[in-house]
Amino acid sequence: PFALGVASGDPAPDGVVLWTRLVLADAAQLQAAHTVRWEVAHDARFAKIVQKGEAPALPQLGHSVHVELRGLAPGRWYHYRFMLGDAVSAVGRTRTAPAAGDLPDALRVAFASCQRWEHGQYAAWRHLAADQPDLVLFLGDYIYEYATPKNASDLARTHSLKLATTLADYRDRYALHKSDPALQAAHATCPWAVTWDDHEVQNDYAAGAGRDDTPHFLAMRGAAWQAFYENMPLRATSLARPFPDTRWDALQVYRRLRWGRLAHIHLLDGRQYRTWQACRTPDSASAGAVRGGACAELADPARTYLGAAQEQWLDAGLASDAAAPDATRWSVLAQQTLFSPRHYPSGTVTTDNWDGYPAGRARLLQSVARHAPRNTVLLGGDIHQNYVCRVHADADRPDSPVIASEFCGTSISSRSGTTQDKVDAVARHNPHVLLARCDLRGYGIADITPERWTTTL
Ligand SMILES: [Fe+2]
Repeated sequence: PFALGVASGDPAPDGVVLWTRLVLADAAQLQAAHTVRWEVAHDARFAKIVQKGEAPALPQLGHSVHVELRGLAPGRWYHYRFMLGDAVSAVGRTRTAPAAGDLPDALRVAFASCQRWEHGQYAAWRHLAADQPDLVLFLGDYIYEYATPKNASDLARTHSLKLATTLADYRDRYALHKSDPALQAAHATCPWAVTWDDHEVQNDYAAGAGRDDTPHFLAMRGAAWQAFYENMPLRATSLARPFPDTRWDALQVYRRLRWGRLAHIHLLDGRQYRTWQACRTPDSASAGAVRGGACAELADPARTYLGAAQEQWLDAGLASDAAAPDATRWSVLAQQTLFSPRHYPSGTVTTDNWDGYPAGRARLLQSVARHAPRNTVLLGGDIHQNYVCRVHADADRPDSPVIASEFCGTSISSRSGTTQDKVDAVARHNPHVLLARCDLRGYGIADITPERWTTTL
């Protein structure tokens, strides 16, 4: 029953979320509610049990299990496992965050995104597990909703699922991805904190709007969001209303993780609240690109990427990071995509990422600048390329002060869809871009100490 592995997430100083989801064989088992036992121990052989208990696995939630531990010691590693009848799950390792007032010597964070099944094997996850991070930030596109392309000749592997549109489809899609042993090993190696991007629902969707040929888009989005919750180690506070009154028309994905006084991680949600992409026609399958001068809407200050409530929440969080000297050494903005501008030699503007939301980007930059001094680092994904950028106070003025650094990580497996020659031309055209590479798959490792931030791509 534990063929999808185990996971843990959102570590706090006193606890962490434990996750699994049962795979059940026959129809009677599938319709029934089950009770799973769990154990947390100091050792991998479970000789020194710290806590144990029971948790429901309900058919209404895809037989997923979410256990929110409390009462653990801060800054400490634990082992955990689940049992159902005689069956015992794989053993996962997890850890708590340091106590709120502590300034730990080191934190190793891995950040990753975009793991399209057909595009590659998950070798990156094996390497990541060997790197032994304290925390994995997954920044979106955990699944891709597509069917396998008809021409499969150049694909690394295929699957037989149709384009995902129903709850059963999305559940099956997570099960497909989670069947991979390397991904399971990465989940079992440390806690994760996850956010999402578009492919968890539909390519380039924006808030309540998808392609206009999608019947009942909101119902489809609800099914996709439910499957996301079921398959991720999220806290119950991410639900708009507790089960069984849950409605899947909202999911609280933006949130903060505090690593003592060393780092404060603001996880952002750039999908749920954004304005429809500028000058995108409703029947288009993707947002694409526009000529800057040909799309007046692009500059509309009312357009938003995070939504007003999340913008205010983030501004308050950045203010609090800087409120006292040494309150937070590093402020980390963990979000979906490339934040810095990419000015193309051709003059086109891509509209699905922050380049399509210049007013929203300017407001975030003002917020970072207003609550100085601070060490701000942005992490991203989505573009399937490694980008390292200086973040200027005014995104369009390279002579304005540098107020943050950005590391946008490449994909676990998804193809970049471009060539290094083209990427080099973009980098030459954008002096704030210090590194741009499309030819490598993988993830980023950030080694964070009170004095230094080192990213390995
Ligand atoms: Fe992607």
